[in-house]
Amino acid sequence: MEHIRIKKLLQSQELLDQEVTVKGWVRTFRNNQFIALNDGSCLKNLQIVVDFANTPAETLKRITTGAAIKATGTLTASMGKGQSVEIKAQNIEILGDADPEKYPLQPKRHSLEFLREIAHLRFRTNTFQAVFKVRNALAFAIHKFFQEKDFVYMHTPIITASDAEGAGEMFQVTTLDLKQVPKDENGKVDFKNDFFGKQTNLTVSGQLEGELAALAFGNIYTFGPTFRAENSNTTRHLAEFWMIEPEMAFYDLEDNMDLAEEMLKYVISYALETCADEIDFLQQRLMEEEKSKPQKDRSPMALKEKLAFCLDNDFERLTYTEAIEILRRSKENQKKRFKYPVEGWGIDLQSEHERFLVEKHFKKPVILTDYPADIKAFYMKASPTSEEGRNTVKAMDILFPGIGELVGGSQREEDYDTLLERMKQMNIPTKEMSWFLDTRRFGSVPHSGFGLGFERLVLFVTGMTNIRDVIPFPRYPGHAEF
Ligand code: 4AD
Ligand code: MG
Repeated sequence: MEHIRIKKLLQSQELLDQEVTVKGWVRTFRNNQFIALNDGSCLKNLQIVVDFANTPAETLKRITTGAAIKATGTLTASMGKGQSVEIKAQNIEILGDADPEKYPLQPKRHSLEFLREIAHLRFRTNTFQAVFKVRNALAFAIHKFFQEKDFVYMHTPIITASDAEGAGEMFQVTTLDLKQVPKDENGKVDFKNDFFGKQTNLTVSGQLEGELAALAFGNIYTFGPTFRAENSNTTRHLAEFWMIEPEMAFYDLEDNMDLAEEMLKYVISYALETCADEIDFLQQRLMEEEKSKPQKDRSPMALKEKLAFCLDNDFERLTYTEAIEILRRSKENQKKRFKYPVEGWGIDLQSEHERFLVEKHFKKPVILTDYPADIKAFYMKASPTSEEGRNTVKAMDILFPGIGELVGGSQREEDYDTLLERMKQMNIPTKEMSWFLDTRRFGSVPHSGFGLGFERLVLFVTGMTNIRDVIPFPRYPGHAEF
């Protein structure tokens, strides 16, 4: 390889006064002399000093923002501010032009909304380089965490015939001719001639298949794309997102929470260690952005402070019932400041309620447990009916500041009869799901697991505010570009 990456070059003392070659993209070109070159290896640009008198005018003209170049010259200590070394270029070669009249990225601040429209080019900005480096580090840290614990990485199917969450938010998968859909004698779509001979969809969760594997390997995790056709146009929902789903045999709800908390702390601290420059940059970016907000909406902590705070404190654990009491008695509720007033037990918590608990009341991550059975999925383990006649399940949601629900999980119902009964009540097709029920027929054991929304984690660690800015090519209602 004839060229050296900028990150390495900035780290190696022994290259000083040597001839080196670098390749990258021009960020700026000042005074026909100073190129700020970025090659994606680190956030820092390398300054290339052009030998203006000995460079053809034709070449100088083509050194424009966005152009790809190769520069060869001597690495020297820099006199200028802002960099320790620079290259005194002997030769500049243009590898790929970028017409300045047409190139949409200019050396100025672009809005995130604008950059989202040109998501194919936004990797070339500092903000998105920082975000996707952090995303990369978090993905690696997740594998590292589970591999160190001997969990088996399991690939669960992307096309399935089941609805793991029972919420009906699925994208259908079909090769049927939509102009001429075959119907059966009852007028319903006849899937017999479809590709799989039955109705299929993109998975909403790998959990059910994960459970099958956990009841053989003990501990497994999935990390893959999941799809939800929920029409939520929010800053925290995507139609295609990545989920991490560990599933553990012989774990109860308490063990499950301990693992989730340990994992979150591990991956956040890994990102802080390995992406220090990126997180510094993102912290600065966030501070700039917050200047335009009214004081009351600004985050009380800087990004790194917020991350450190998460690492240093135990997450607050309480039951749904306790949370409802806190919410009901809160000043916000008494003064009718919630859009959805908290009147009684059984309601599904809205994001304003979750944020109140995390950001105002406890001021730290919160794990809510023991939700009403009626608002949770069919597979969750039922607790005995309470004295007040309340039915709860052994569920846990982890709520994070600025994010709301980051993790959702539960202990699973391992008892065959109880699960079958519950599936029937909730109209989950028991015959088609007999493979799932088999785990409860043969060697069933208590087991637990959870799902971590990967983009919500990236959102938290980067301090970005819209989930569409932490996945390279976001899919949401009306948008499937690139
Ligand atoms: O709470 P959810 O729906 O739980 C499950 O899917 C379970 N099967 C997980 C398990 O126990 N194995 O989703 C889990 C997490 C949520 O807490 C949230 O962080 C994220 O996935 N999530 C989304 N992230 C982005 N866009 C969406 N539309 C999301 N829906 C859920
Ligand atoms: Mg959930």
